[in-house]
Amino acid sequence: MSWNLQNKTAIVTGGTKGIGWSIVNQFLLLGAKVIVIARNQANLNHQINAWQAEGYAVQGIVADITDYQSYNAILSAIADQKIDILVNNVGGNLPKKFVDYTQQDIQSIFNLNLISNIRFTQCLFAKLSAASGAVVVNISSIAGLEDVGTGSLYAVCKAAIIQLTKSLAVEWAPYQIRVNAVAPWFTSTERINTMLHDKSLQDFVQSNTPLRRIASPDQIAHAVAFLAMDASNYITGDTIVVDGGFSAERK
Ligand SMILES: NC(=O)c1ccc[n+]([C@@H]2O[C@H](COP(=O)([O-])OP(=O)(O)OC[C@H]3O[C@@H](n4cnc5c(N)ncnc54)[C@H](OP(=O)(O)O)[C@@H]3O)[C@@H](O)[C@H]2O)c1
Repeated sequence: MSWNLQNKTAIVTGGTKGIGWSIVNQFLLLGAKVIVIARNQANLNHQINAWQAEGYAVQGIVADITDYQSYNAILSAIADQKIDILVNNVGGNLPKKFVDYTQQDIQSIFNLNLISNIRFTQCLFAKLSAASGAVVVNISSIAGLEDVGTGSLYAVCKAAIIQLTKSLAVEWAPYQIRVNAVAPWFTSTERINTMLHDKSLQDFVQSNTPLRRIASPDQIAHAVAFLAMDASNYITGDTIVVDGGFSAERK
């Protein structure tokens, strides 16, 4: 059973920064061809050029994954390619007190973290079912499993992603499409590193993490890569927590 991603083609949403960038990088190192989706054209071009200069097979598509009108253009850009792996990585938080969320906040959080994941996965069904043993990996969060005080609506969406992962794994098993999720805890992306300048937050995270260190994006990407490989081809409907023991200590 192969412990690599050779001859696989993957789509990674939000692959130019943070955890998504590490997932793309890991997939390339393991031999996959990767199609990267992000909104900022200049940054996407910069990253794609850097990977291509190292000899990797990588393609960029500029799109906002919450804009469902853009899906036809994405499908056209990949029309002649098989797709073996979809990583739904785009997501983001807007922490507020529950009563302060406006209608616009609610729509935007649900669109970004849940509905775009649903719509984009639906959109790729024909491609995934045509591949032999395709894989979907959804990026959830520890916030979807435990109350971590970072905003209730993001938590609701990330919990829904975990249930969606289970339900879809069963529904798509007849097509041999596996569906799994990864749930990270605080991970040292650029965005989170800015937040962690707040010493009290840094102390909170470290003191509540049995391994007493904050995850690197690569540590999340390693779990995603495992789930994407044929080496994990009897695992479906599962969520791997990558949290340095945080949730184990809370149980
Ligand atoms: N970092 C953490 O501590 C942590 C913990 C638990 C879970 N997570 C989850 O992990 C995932 C990645 O988080 P991250 O912290 O690595 O994010 P990040 O550093 O903010 O990076 C987000 C990536 O997604 C792209 N993106 C954002 N909105 C997009 C949209 N609407 N359409 C297309 N691309 C979009 C961004 O590029 P453009 O701006 O160019 O579009 C960028 O490449 C999210 O689902 C997040 O909820 C993160």
